[in-house]
Amino acid sequence: MANNQTELLREKIQTIFPAEAQIPAEFQLAAPLHQRQYLVDGKMKTWDGPCHTVFSPIYVDQNGELTPKEIGSYPLAGEAEALAALDAACRAYDQGRGEWPTMSVAERIACVEDFTKKMILQKKAVVNLLMWEIGKTYADSVKEFDRTVEYIYATIDALKELDRSSSRFVIDQGILGQIRRSPLGVVLCMGPFNYPLNETFTTLIPAIIMGNTLLFKPPKHGTLLHYPLLEAFRTSFPPGVVNTIYGRGSNVVPKLMESGKVNVLTLIGSSRVADQLKKMHPKVNRLKAILGLDAKNLAVVLPNADLDTAVKECLLGTLSFNGQRCTAIKIIYVHQQIVDAFLSKLTEEVGKLKFGMPWDTGVSLTPLPEPQKPDYLENVIREAQAYGAKVMNPGGGLRNRSFVYPAVVYPVNDKMKLFREEQFGPVIPVVPFEDIETPIQYLLDSDHGQQVSVFGTDAAQIAALIDPLVNLVSRVNINAQCQRGPDTFPFTGRKDSAEGTLSVSDALRSFSIRSLVATKYTEANKNIINVILDNHESKFLATRFIL
Ligand code: G3H
Repeated sequence: MANNQTELLREKIQTIFPAEAQIPAEFQLAAPLHQRQYLVDGKMKTWDGPCHTVFSPIYVDQNGELTPKEIGSYPLAGEAEALAALDAACRAYDQGRGEWPTMSVAERIACVEDFTKKMILQKKAVVNLLMWEIGKTYADSVKEFDRTVEYIYATIDALKELDRSSSRFVIDQGILGQIRRSPLGVVLCMGPFNYPLNETFTTLIPAIIMGNTLLFKPPKHGTLLHYPLLEAFRTSFPPGVVNTIYGRGSNVVPKLMESGKVNVLTLIGSSRVADQLKKMHPKVNRLKAILGLDAKNLAVVLPNADLDTAVKECLLGTLSFNGQRCTAIKIIYVHQQIVDAFLSKLTEEVGKLKFGMPWDTGVSLTPLPEPQKPDYLENVIREAQAYGAKVMNPGGGLRNRSFVYPAVVYPVNDKMKLFREEQFGPVIPVVPFEDIETPIQYLLDSDHGQQVSVFGTDAAQIAALIDPLVNLVSRVNINAQCQRGPDTFPFTGRKDSAEGTLSVSDALRSFSIRSLVATKYTEANKNIINVILDNHESKFLATRFIL
């Protein structure tokens, strides 16, 4: 029976990729997008140097031969261009005296609103490129775009609120003061391939709106989708506020860091890269880092867990966007008493997931954008098998080019790479346990500390876990998968998983510093303050209430 299922799956997986004519017209790429322009200092510059060709994870069947679809190319610029962008960002910031950092909050908000309106007009192009560049499903690509727009509007509202509460004076111990938040300087922003638009913008937008200037390096996979937005950046902000960096990260980023002119590094990526980059800055004390890094989120399924809920949430947690979320559940500890029932239900549910191309209706499993990933996943599955684990679901681990069918691997133990490494793909390691100390010990020994999911129905048992777990990770999810949202919730992690906190309101704080104006509460000083306020002579020292 299982063999039959595996054979059926094998056949389907062998024919997963479409012929050109089978691609629905609305998702066809009219022509490859050969980006030759990049944005620096308010100008679209033309690049005539080497370029990186972008191949989609989607292969196309041409008379039985599969070739990855070429979707375009982008500049492989070098150090000189990166340093020119850095100069432009420094000039625009002008040590805090530039037009942008001294602009009023209301004026900056107006620019971001203007940008967002123009961004929305590019939705179709961006969504289509999301699908082609990283293989994200149409539904998730639309969700990523919409969530990003909502995030921008929520950021604007949060900033208005912050500004309103800073529009008053404080009087304490005979000192009169007004306390606001000021920008930090030049921000180097690098986003990840899995949420190339959303996660990039959850740092980029708060960074800009707080008055910083920006060097923006799009992720290696997920670069072209930013191209339709460059004109909106150019026309919505003063020159030099947003500057793009193209090229191999290892060529261009070290020079930027070594210059000592980057004030904030914001990166969603690996802790290894973040560590290296921070150390390149000549004055680390002048560098603020806001980082979202590696994670190996754990789910614990207690013996009394509601199996339907646990399986449903673990399925979402492990396989949404093929397991390529930093917040994905990447290892599941299941109590011995229910592990057989759990595995049987989980494998059944995995079998129901639809796989195919990103535009297929109801699809949830799609090709993977990282070229080395299928080999890596095959290796970790093989290694686990060599150490005694089995692939529990029919067809688990079958592959065709960039597509890998999910594998439930059991029982996983500490000899296997799957036990510790962040697989970032559709492989689900399951570990049996008897003593609750076992998964806790896993977290104690872990280099990661982002989130955990606990499945159970006994309130006392859950309560006993909450207290140790909140000090090991940053979010404990009860009977729910791990996730970042809602975006008003703090998103952070311990150990190698993060530095700083992101959420709509936390990000505004992360990309700014408190500054204040203070004076002795005397008649003469009160008079000076009143004149400044009445004549609107300062943007900082002001009581204007943003509506
Ligand atoms: O890759 C990490 C993303 O921030 C995950 O966001 O948990 O809302 O899907 P999400």
